[in-house]
Amino acid sequence: MEMDDKIKELKKRNQEADLGGGPDRIEQQHNKGKMTARERIEYFLDKGSFEELDKFVVHRCHDFGMERKKFPGDGVVTGYGTVNGRELFIYAQDFTVFGGSLSETVGQKICKVQDLAMKNGAPVVGLNDSGGARIQEGVESLAGYGEIFKRNVRASGVVPQISVIMGPCAGGAVYSPALTDFIFMVKKSSNMFITGPQVIKAVTSEEVSAEELGGAMTQNTKSGVAHFAEDSDKDALDRVKELLSYLPQNFRESTPAVACSDDPDRTDKSLNDIVPANPRLPYDIQDIIRRVLDDQQFLEVHKHYAKNMVVGFGRLNGLSVGIIANQPRFLAGCLDIDASMKCARFVRTCDAFNIPLITFVDVPGYLPGVNQEYGGIIKHGAKIIFAYCEATVPKITLITRKAYGGAYLAMSSKHFEADINYAYPSAEIAVMGPEGACNIVFRKEIAEADDPEETRGKMVEEYRNNFASPFKAAELGYIDHIILPENTRPRLIKALMMLQNKRVTGPEKRHGNSPL
Ligand code: HXC
Repeated sequence: MEMDDKIKELKKRNQEADLGGGPDRIEQQHNKGKMTARERIEYFLDKGSFEELDKFVVHRCHDFGMERKKFPGDGVVTGYGTVNGRELFIYAQDFTVFGGSLSETVGQKICKVQDLAMKNGAPVVGLNDSGGARIQEGVESLAGYGEIFKRNVRASGVVPQISVIMGPCAGGAVYSPALTDFIFMVKKSSNMFITGPQVIKAVTSEEVSAEELGGAMTQNTKSGVAHFAEDSDKDALDRVKELLSYLPQNFRESTPAVACSDDPDRTDKSLNDIVPANPRLPYDIQDIIRRVLDDQQFLEVHKHYAKNMVVGFGRLNGLSVGIIANQPRFLAGCLDIDASMKCARFVRTCDAFNIPLITFVDVPGYLPGVNQEYGGIIKHGAKIIFAYCEATVPKITLITRKAYGGAYLAMSSKHFEADINYAYPSAEIAVMGPEGACNIVFRKEIAEADDPEETRGKMVEEYRNNFASPFKAAELGYIDHIILPENTRPRLIKALMMLQNKRVTGPEKRHGNSPL
């Protein structure tokens, strides 16, 4: 064959591969409001940066007449490229080829980018849109999943792994996303479940739609499996880019600082009026968080789940930080099972990737209740303690109001080696809330008083003044300083800059045994 003919052949093959399952299937994909695998990659990566791998790989299945149905690339597009100039590895399942199902070769293609990502210290982003294991193949397909899961676990804590669910993701296939750091879902067009509606109906007689069972909002609100719910493919991909900007390339690096035009010494008098004087009144902790961060930018993670806890990313003086905060607007900011898991997971994610932790505390305690006890609040609550104690990144804590009992300890207290602990003058640090404490300690005096309510009120006031204040803790050095709310941003930034070279090593061991 002449050189010209060889080049023509290559062009022809490339064009064929670019069409995936063919024009009809591409049209079907578009009719569902979805982009194709290639369109998604092109939209996501910096223009012209995509380097594809394994474009001509085909499946090796000989059963069910499959040898006559081969598509170059076989159900997944893989490769590497850049987002805002930073390298990453990517795979996008191609629903136009056998419903994006995972064959032996699709598995091998995905493993190749996972291996390259680990060796080269760059994130992996997986765009999922698949009918699951390639039914015509069987165990080869299962082996493919096994190899992917193993690499998800190996890569955990080495490089950031992000999953975007943009179509079906069912059966055991859900476990690859579940093993990654963040899951994004697209509203209406994606779902995740272990067993679908038909199987559930057959086994338990329950009737439920795919959307209700495992749609984006279900997995974001009810189960907390997913961290983000976005309106469209493009919105989801934009949000992934935003998230990546807060993450480092790998565990050895820190997130690159961005130029900061927001004055690090900026004070804000409006902060003085956010925490209500009446400790029973709620307020929105995000009003404090946003005012303090650079340009008020806060990327909330797990926004729809366990709203009594707020977690997310922001920047202080251009440096990426992880924010954890009790939210007094929901359940008075109590720690329950869901909030504990949300908090602990986020703390561990930040610690794995060198992202300093800023914790805002206003917590009346762990949520009382039979369901909470039966559900294992003891073991789930312990996760927060484990995560904060284990974390060696810079840890800065600010108590805005209540910090009672075990929850005071859990929320990044000095006793867990937080580096800098601040409190507002409005902080109340005590074994328990004044009302509860007085009902126990002064029960007799209150019962025997001429006017029990008036006596209770006086006792509560006295307790609050004497015990539930930040000064006792400050006298003991458990609080490093009591700060004015208006100075929050400069104080946090000074502490963060001081901690830039923090290095801590723990005792030698194989690994800890976090209460799972
Ligand atoms: C082979 C598949 C496939 C699969 C879909 N297709 N899933 N081919 N293996 N798993 C093919 C269809 O036959 C069809 O081809 C094309 O992809 C598009 O599928 P449609 O059904 O027309 O699309 P849609 O109506 O949008 O439905 C999508 C779907 C449905 C909900 C994903 O296809 C479906 O239920 N698929 C099977 C899902 C499943 O049970 N997978 C195995 C799970 S077990 P044609 O040529 O007819 O158009 C599993 C174990 C993993 O995954 C364990 C890991 C540990």
